[in-house]
Amino acid sequence: MNFPATRLRRLRRTEAIRSLVRETHLHPAALIYPLFLCPGEGVRKEISSMPGCFNLSIDEAIKEAETCAALGIGGLLLFGLPEQKDEQATGAWVANGIVQTALRAFKSNRKLDSLLQIADVCLCEYMSHGHCGIIARDGEHYEIENDSSVTLIAKTAASLADAGADIVAPSDMMDGRVAAIRKALDTSGHQQTPVLSYASKFASAFYGPFREAADSAPQFGDRRSYQMDGANLREAMREIDQDIAEGADMLLMKPAMPYLDVIRAARERCDLPLGAYQVSGEYSMMQAAFQRGWLEPERAMMESLLSIRRAGADFIVTYFAKDVARLLG
Ligand code: PBG
Repeated sequence: MNFPATRLRRLRRTEAIRSLVRETHLHPAALIYPLFLCPGEGVRKEISSMPGCFNLSIDEAIKEAETCAALGIGGLLLFGLPEQKDEQATGAWVANGIVQTALRAFKSNRKLDSLLQIADVCLCEYMSHGHCGIIARDGEHYEIENDSSVTLIAKTAASLADAGADIVAPSDMMDGRVAAIRKALDTSGHQQTPVLSYASKFASAFYGPFREAADSAPQFGDRRSYQMDGANLREAMREIDQDIAEGADMLLMKPAMPYLDVIRAARERCDLPLGAYQVSGEYSMMQAAFQRGWLEPERAMMESLLSIRRAGADFIVTYFAKDVARLLG
């Protein structure tokens, strides 16, 4: 025992000294804010399970994006609620899709130059059945087909890059989609567009509120035949190795707080830039506690994000991005 020579509390006495020795920091430029784009004009509809988050028509989304740029936020992650859904996810890959149209508007607005436009690449919001891939039916039985889905996903990524996406982020968890997307980008003049792959995405209850926000709940069954089993860490490492081998530029881990060990393991395994997605359910459960006065909003929000950074994430996708940027600013 070397007490009292070692007194760790010496470095905790004032905010000045605590700031000096702080090991982990949050920066607005390393935060990404998700936006849910919907048809219409002047639409700003609050998502009931996500207080403070909205479905926005493109004109309203432009205002929101300008606010984010002014706050120094690093980027937006774009999701679309199309006018119509079908079984080929047409709205995902057509040139005048909702996200493609928004991207063109964002890209022609100089106030948004500092804001990265990241397009989530998935089919579920555009499929009438709400699954992330094409369904093959055989009587009662159905399968989410891998390879035909990958073809559509790659086509979607190229279409989003054509419309101006700075980064494409596949979130479907089909096998082989990173390689297919890389090829589709390279053969359509987008050799410089990075792929941010949702490398390990678990089949999580914490996506519940998002499915209201993006109107993307599966109409039958669940996502467990393509998203990962929450019990599996080693399998997450295989997903990471596979996405790196296929050409991913950056990795995204999701959800964040219930999977901090996976983020840490990913950080130790590879040197790619690593993001983490603090998903809708993580946001909503904290908002619910804030509304009841059970948690202090500012402190709980900062602590949750610091834990994700400390686990090893370089950047964080979070519905708190604007609030945090305001606090840091
Ligand atoms: C689309 C997608 C989902 C999320 C991001 N991309 C939903 C899902 O997989 O069911 C969830 C994000 C969140 O909960 O905030 N596949």
